[in-house]
Amino acid sequence: MALIPIVSIPDPVLRVVATPVPEVSDGIRTLLDDMAETMYDAPGIGLAAPQISISQRLIVMDCGGEEDRQLYKMINPEIVDSAEDRTVLEEGCLSIPGQTADVERPAHVDVRYIDVDGNQQMLHCKGLLAACVQHEIDHLNGVLFIDHISRLKRDMITRRVLKDLRQTGGKG
Ligand code: NI
Repeated sequence: MALIPIVSIPDPVLRVVATPVPEVSDGIRTLLDDMAETMYDAPGIGLAAPQISISQRLIVMDCGGEEDRQLYKMINPEIVDSAEDRTVLEEGCLSIPGQTADVERPAHVDVRYIDVDGNQQMLHCKGLLAACVQHEIDHLNGVLFIDHISRLKRDMITRRVLKDLRQTGGKG
């Protein structure tokens, strides 16, 4: 396993619509293992492949606490149903280091994906997992959590991140 560098805004790869994975190969399984290791190391609760400069439809998530750990590895995930009721949770992003904002999203969603064995799965997500899976699938479509907030707030967060990156020589 290996740690892979995580890119930050304004890296253009974060704005590209990622490509579907045609086949679940050993290479894809290894990549998902590396993504999980990278996510835990960061530490974060979710990571999408574009965040490590790989424009493919792959995400990993673990939204559980110490007692409730569950690692999900999803290939070509898609939201097939969204609740009408919405909820607000504070979100951050490993590609927007040090910044958070309240984001409103559907309170629960059904997600269809391919697992590491190549089988199709359905998962009903609620609470933090629902917010996380929507956030990660957004990444596959070139969308960031700051796109869901006011322009004023988005510009403020973007300015702060760019300033921090300048001060750390881009090694944020
Ligand atoms: Ni993110």
